[in-house]
Amino acid sequence: MKDKEYEKDKLIDKIDLDSLPTHIGIIMDGNGRWAKKRNLPRNFGHQEGMERVIEIVECADKIGIKYLTLYAFSTENWKRPQSEIEGLMKILVFYIRRELDKLYKNNVKLDILGDISRLADTPRNEVKRAVEKTKNNTGMTLNIALNYGGRDEIIYGIKNFLNDLEMGKITKDDLNTETFSNYLYTKGQPDVDLVIRPSGELRISNFLLYQIAYAELYFADSDILWPDFKEEHFYKAILDYQKRYRRFGGI
Ligand code: FPP
Repeated sequence: MKDKEYEKDKLIDKIDLDSLPTHIGIIMDGNGRWAKKRNLPRNFGHQEGMERVIEIVECADKIGIKYLTLYAFSTENWKRPQSEIEGLMKILVFYIRRELDKLYKNNVKLDILGDISRLADTPRNEVKRAVEKTKNNTGMTLNIALNYGGRDEIIYGIKNFLNDLEMGKITKDDLNTETFSNYLYTKGQPDVDLVIRPSGELRISNFLLYQIAYAELYFADSDILWPDFKEEHFYKAILDYQKRYRRFGGI
């Protein structure tokens, strides 16, 4: 145990706190495989995955990450068996109830990316309560992508823009890549600097398509499934990011 703590501290010491990624997005993947490896039902993997959510949110906040976006439930995840969906929603509600006061005290602002109108009453109301309670917090913004799809978000943004156009609030010439960002769920937030995906899949899976245009991508090894993704893996991803030279199309 002591060795592990020492290892984590050594990694933190190497991180340059002046050049942290401002916005990190994580595609949490591999909960099902984690459970299968242990002959457990898939929801045990989601439960353990949620423990990692708590751990990673705490360490992101501790080192000073300003925006953290977690991909929790995609628009495609409705295709899963009803029992798995209900299990996921129960886990969500349980953890909001357990963790909300702590999030609030830590000055974390919770935002939801996605259309939560399709959620059942209890998870929808708990999510709304959490967003409402933390809306004036000024510390880290924690975005949970819930019933989220990147393509859907772009269509949502276009519809929002068209509404403003019809109402005469904006003209066609006002539209550019910067102003369009403000019609998305991430309105007012910076683009993503680093996307992390554990479990060895090399895909973006419809995650923040507009916001990741220049993001660095970090794929953890296939033996690191999301429930195995601990604080030290998070620091390793940041250290890897800090070794890269970002040109944003320049030379
Ligand atoms: C992917 O594992 C994980 C998810 C479906 C989302 C992550 C969910 C949690 C951390 C639990 C909390 C739930 C909510 C809604 C906040 P997978 O099931 O795709 O794993 P597999 O690829 O191994 O099958």
